[in-house]
Amino acid sequence: MAQALLPVLSEIGVQAQTKASVPHILKLVKERAGTEPMRFKLTVLPGDGVGPEVAREAVRILQALCHFFDCEFVCEEKPVGGAAIRAHGTPLPESTLAACLESDAVFLGAVGAPEFDHLPRPQKPEAGLLALRTALGGFANLRPAVSFPAIADCSPLQRSRVEGADVLFVRELLGGLYFAEPRGFDEEGESACNTMRYSVREIERVARVAFEQARSRRGKVTSVDKANVLETSQLWRRTVTRVAREYPDVTLDHMYVDACAMHLITHPSRFDVVLTENLFGDILSDEAAAITGSLGMLASATIGGAVDLYEPVHGSAPDIAGQNIANPLGAIASAAMLLRLSAGMPHEAADLETAIRQVLEEGYCTADLARPGKHAVSTSEMGDLVEHKFVGMLDRRFSYHGV
Ligand code: IPM
Ligand code: MN
Repeated sequence: MAQALLPVLSEIGVQAQTKASVPHILKLVKERAGTEPMRFKLTVLPGDGVGPEVAREAVRILQALCHFFDCEFVCEEKPVGGAAIRAHGTPLPESTLAACLESDAVFLGAVGAPEFDHLPRPQKPEAGLLALRTALGGFANLRPAVSFPAIADCSPLQRSRVEGADVLFVRELLGGLYFAEPRGFDEEGESACNTMRYSVREIERVARVAFEQARSRRGKVTSVDKANVLETSQLWRRTVTRVAREYPDVTLDHMYVDACAMHLITHPSRFDVVLTENLFGDILSDEAAAITGSLGMLASATIGGAVDLYEPVHGSAPDIAGQNIANPLGAIASAAMLLRLSAGMPHEAADLETAIRQVLEEGYCTADLARPGKHAVSTSEMGDLVEHKFVGMLDRRFSYHGV
């Protein structure tokens, strides 16, 4: 690619250098052409517990990209969850929501703190996240769970079972029991109810995301429901089956959620894309942490709405917060998803994923993955290692020894 640029360069009068990188050259080319660098507006919501620690590592890796590309990640931090309750008395302040809605993407660390457990539901930190998800409009939550050979022994499952497992959960995120009405306690507090409700439209739109994802993977969707008991699941199954006809190249099978919970543990490599409703997806994606070896490895992206949202799956982990020992790889892998899905940088996303894999292969890990023979490092050291590896890969890909 660099060689191919040489005639262009001489045409516009840029002197070829003995060692220059393509991004540098592109910068020169763009300077001559007067084009603006890509400005990517990212709202960062560090949130609670380990959220700020892991978000910091992910964001600085994104910013490292700007040394190579004519791009800028303009990051603005805003409070959410417990941090926002402390600062503003509400888990999703208006200024936070406004900043998110004006962004190209939102990156969230985690929400939740035990000191707010006593609050009524709408005032809890988690209510801020749920309100944010609704406002941003992303209905498809993508949660990949991949077994890395280097840490396969950290799984409570035998290596032979988890090896090769690579599952993508597509979790419906804006409907079902989390949101549907009626809900609440009766006056005496003696009974309570939630409603599981889905419309055909809600099912269709998330099903399409699952089929599209399967097309770029191994071409298989497993739709998970409880159609032997629940009407919502019967509607789910019927609708997914109909949408599947638009994707003849993708194989569809159906599975009850209880059976899926078992198969995920006994035979995880049988799955490619798992499509399911909100609560089932919440539970099954945490279970999938057992495949990867640690909940700290799981990344997520929420797409389909006005602004995409990226967050690690692990939550705030208050017991280890502030100690610089949390695993930032779920957050960093979420940043890789951001590069692929929101920033239009699929190659750099793949590079970042490779960097994570290689750092693990070199024997580094965080406390959650520590085993004899492994080298346990802190949150920030893990961030450094991945950043260094990532930058090295970009450097090699973009530098050339010309003329
Ligand atoms: C998750 C979390 C959230 C959810 C909580 C914090 C509201 O568990 O993202 O999986 O239930 O969706
Ligand atoms: Mn969860």
